[in-house]
Amino acid sequence: MSAIDHSVFHSPGYFIRAAMASWEKAGAARLRHRVFVEEQGLFPVHDRDKIDKDCTSLVALSTYAHEADEVVGTVRIHEEAPGLWWGSRLAVDSRFRHVGRLGRELIRLAVSTANGRGCRSFSAHVQAQNVPMFEALHWRVEEEIVLHGMPHARMRADLAAYPPITDPEAGFLALAKRSAPPPAIAW
Ligand SMILES: CC(C)(COP(=O)(O)OP(=O)(O)OC[C@H]1O[C@@H](n2cnc3c(N)ncnc32)[C@H](O)[C@@H]1OP(=O)(O)O)[C@@H](O)C(=O)NCCC(=O)NCCS
Repeated sequence: MSAIDHSVFHSPGYFIRAAMASWEKAGAARLRHRVFVEEQGLFPVHDRDKIDKDCTSLVALSTYAHEADEVVGTVRIHEEAPGLWWGSRLAVDSRFRHVGRLGRELIRLAVSTANGRGCRSFSAHVQAQNVPMFEALHWRVEEEIVLHGMPHARMRADLAAYPPITDPEAGFLALAKRSAPPPAIAW
């Protein structure tokens, strides 16, 4: 096994923020297509729906020389009824999973942004294999259901664990995870 920490070669840090530029929105759409249509086969042709007209899209951006470089993660949030928010289409590029806790940081920005906009309830339909991850992030299962032919759970976030964020456009920086340093070499 290599002693080199490859995660730092992906990107030393990631901006987690609301998508603003058109390249960010287009990158999020392409990433969703790669993950939900090509990788998971959840949708046969495209994954767009009417929620896309009225949602806030959040992105994780890799960096190069401290500048935003590429969309490597995304999630969207929308308010279904006053105070009732949903998150959906959480996706991290397969090359960037487990390297920067991007899934966790996108969930944090999603729920905290809704909380900053007067959210009273934040829910998501979570794919069954991801339920343990959401439970570890202060979500609980409310109902088990099948969606698009795949087992899901309707889960709800504990808003107390997600302090309000009022400026998702500014977002925050997530650093790449560091593995343990390589053992010292004896000369
Ligand atoms: C699910 C997904 C978004 C996770 O993204 P990620 O960036 O790899 O996740 P993170 O690195 O932030 O993981 C956060 C924590 O949950 C853990 N985790 C990640 N996926 C997990 C899973 N499926 N089950 C249990 N734990 C999981 C990680 O080990 C990490 O734990 P740590 O903080 O103790 O190190 C990503 O795997 C993905 O895009 N999958 C395909 C699409 C998908 O399933 N979308 C979600 C639909 S509900």
